[in-house]
Amino acid sequence: MNLILFGPPGAGKGTQSSFLVESEKMFQLSTGDLLRAELKSGSDLSKQLKEIMDAGKLVSDDIINNLIEKKISDPSVKNNIIFDGFPRNLEQAKSLDDMLDKYNQKISAIINLKVDYSVLVKRISGRVSCSICKKPFNEFFDPPVEPNNCSNNKCDSRELIKRSDDNESTVTNRLKTYDDQTLPILDYYRKKGIVKDVDAMKAINEVTGEIKSIISNL
Ligand code: AP5
Repeated sequence: MNLILFGPPGAGKGTQSSFLVESEKMFQLSTGDLLRAELKSGSDLSKQLKEIMDAGKLVSDDIINNLIEKKISDPSVKNNIIFDGFPRNLEQAKSLDDMLDKYNQKISAIINLKVDYSVLVKRISGRVSCSICKKPFNEFFDPPVEPNNCSNNKCDSRELIKRSDDNESTVTNRLKTYDDQTLPILDYYRKKGIVKDVDAMKAINEVTGEIKSIISNL
């Protein structure tokens, strides 16, 4: 089973992916996390990426598709991938179809996390993420059990960090990019009949419950 977790910045894609990784033993393919790992390298590419990401725009399709194909072609994660933050425009959605065909796989469902935009700035401004396993927490809605400490036993991190693109002006731009380029691809998937809508205004554990019930019926 391959899933796409879909929704605007702050909808809960990373949060719900981390639960599915734990409970379903799936592999989370987050293009945002892959890009942030590249940022740390200090390469020429990383400087260009930082500018684009801090402006809330999309990184070029070539860079993204290249990152994605490296994972889709990996037999150890075949048919067990959660796509988190990808695809983000129609070109990426079509490339994903081509790549999945090439490696004899398909998408089982698009989990569409539906939220009112009014809550997103607060969710994003309160977000801190584990420096190692990337699990997101929230200072307002989902604080770590101990301050600055990831409760995921697998990584034992003592460092929770804020993202440089999690400020109000970048978030506004990220939402505009989402509305203009990403939201329209939902129609592409609705025509295929694989979109499952989830009320992501509910508490985190209730959203997880809804997603689990959807995937148990796939
Ligand atoms: P990316 O890292 O993908 O960011 P995003 O899509 O903007 O999504 P977020 O990570 O902000 O939100 P999320 O839905 O994962 O929310 P989370 O679970 O953390 O992309 C960053 C940038 O990289 C892009 O702007 C772009 O430049 C580039 N990029 C990435 N992919 C690309 C691509 N494919 N093509 C081109 N460019 C690309 O939750 C947020 C907070 O809310 C957390 O603190 C969490 O604890 C809390 N929370 C979650 N659910 C709930 C709930 N139900 N109730 C209360 N709080 C909740």
